[in-house]
Amino acid sequence: TGSADFVVVANRLPVDLDRGTDGTQRWTASPGGLVSALEPFLRSRKGAWVGWPGVPGVEVDPFSDEGMVLYPVTLTADDVRDYYEGFSNATLWPLYHDVVERPVFDRSWWESYVRVNRRFAEASADIAAGGATVWVQDYQLQLVPSMLRELRPDLRIGFFLHIPFPPVELFMQLPWRAEIVRGLIGADLVGFHRPGGAQNFLWLARTLVGLEPSRGAVGVRSRPGMMQVGNRTVRVGAFPISIDAAGLDNLARSRQVSERATEIRKDLGNPRTVLLGVDRLDYTKGIDLRLQALHELLHEGRVKPEDVTFVQLATPSRERVEHYQRMRSDIEQMVGRINGEFSRVGHPVVHYLHQSVSRTELAAFYSAADVMVVTPLRDGMNLVCKEYVACRHDLGGALVLSEFAGAASELTSAFLVNPHDLDGVKNALEAAITLDPAEGRRRMRALRRQVLTHDVDRWARSFLEALGSESAS
Ligand code: UDP
Ligand code: G6P
Repeated sequence: TGSADFVVVANRLPVDLDRGTDGTQRWTASPGGLVSALEPFLRSRKGAWVGWPGVPGVEVDPFSDEGMVLYPVTLTADDVRDYYEGFSNATLWPLYHDVVERPVFDRSWWESYVRVNRRFAEASADIAAGGATVWVQDYQLQLVPSMLRELRPDLRIGFFLHIPFPPVELFMQLPWRAEIVRGLIGADLVGFHRPGGAQNFLWLARTLVGLEPSRGAVGVRSRPGMMQVGNRTVRVGAFPISIDAAGLDNLARSRQVSERATEIRKDLGNPRTVLLGVDRLDYTKGIDLRLQALHELLHEGRVKPEDVTFVQLATPSRERVEHYQRMRSDIEQMVGRINGEFSRVGHPVVHYLHQSVSRTELAAFYSAADVMVVTPLRDGMNLVCKEYVACRHDLGGALVLSEFAGAASELTSAFLVNPHDLDGVKNALEAAITLDPAEGRRRMRALRRQVLTHDVDRWARSFLEALGSESAS
């Protein structure tokens, strides 16, 4: 038994160990929405975070980071290949995202997933104080709740899935489907972004493990679904995640960010319209579709190359997984094709940055963009669109958003599109580019009302309240 009262367990630590070519090491922010959302909350809680430092084979001692204590878990090169790149990102990730790419089912990856999940469970069991709350995160660690409960029945255990929970017909393809469900029901509360995910999970628990839901379980926040597992009650509900909206709003109001935004527009040649995409370079994000829509608009003369600049920030991600390598070369080819056809010397139509940028720089890009283009084929929530809204205190800008992002059910004043419907995407882009400013302000005001009143702190508190580890405030 350890001394931490509040523990977050995630595949990644909030910081990544970066090794420079000269052998020097430094910590940088980890990629992705899970870390962006949880980090500010955990810092204010002064909690403990168990996770992998992002490089294979390194052993790092626990250390404190401005209020948090980080407990690194070591993954070997084989673990990274089989548990992380394999089962997590070539089996579960595509399966849970509507099989956008075909999931690979490999027995040795599964064995590695079980082994590594056990290691995370043991690390958490070691550091959690008696009766502590342990909050397990995401698809990489779905077996941890049950493994941890066996080691430490005294703990209060929550689980939250940051990606979509798939329709039951897709989940049923997984050879280890019952094991995953049994892993999750070790938690006292299993949370999803959307009520549909919670309902699918309740159905699977009944079908695969024979658990009957108690009461008229519907699995939404106000009425969480419940199941009886032996003498325990497992709750299941929907908790849409969000961002540190006030923090970002403040940052966007800073002089540093507004000056940088002006500078970015100037560097782009002060075009009439700046379009922006910000994503991890992932095939679920629909980057190719938005490029295709832009290409056709240019080709048809509905958008003039001298009027628009499209900036795509694409954070490198999971680069050794084959699906990602293929997609990267497709996207880079499309960028080249558009620029080849429509750019002038000194004025490329598409600026493509395969890089990660800091929060401040990102806030400046959001502030500089007239149209934010978010077109995932499937996304658990998508925080980028909420961040854009939080940065637009000037009520400027327009948001084009896929219906298949979790955020679409909250951000109904965006230009909502079906990313599979290319004509629909083109029409929405054109409408956003030619938007009447008064109408734009009306839409942005409505978007901001939603984002600023539903921040990540509220999300975390409502989850922890339903877990029973926090009283209503
Ligand atoms: N992000 C970042 N630097 C970048 C690009 C993205 O810090 O160069 C952050 C962005 O601010 C957001 C997160 O990465 O918080 C992406 O989260 P999202 O939920 O949109 O997608 P995910 O990557 O989790 O699938
Ligand atoms: C998404 C997932 C996270 C993951 C992040 C970055 O947000 O939900 O669990 O950490 O992407 O992906 P990576 O594979 O680099 O951790």
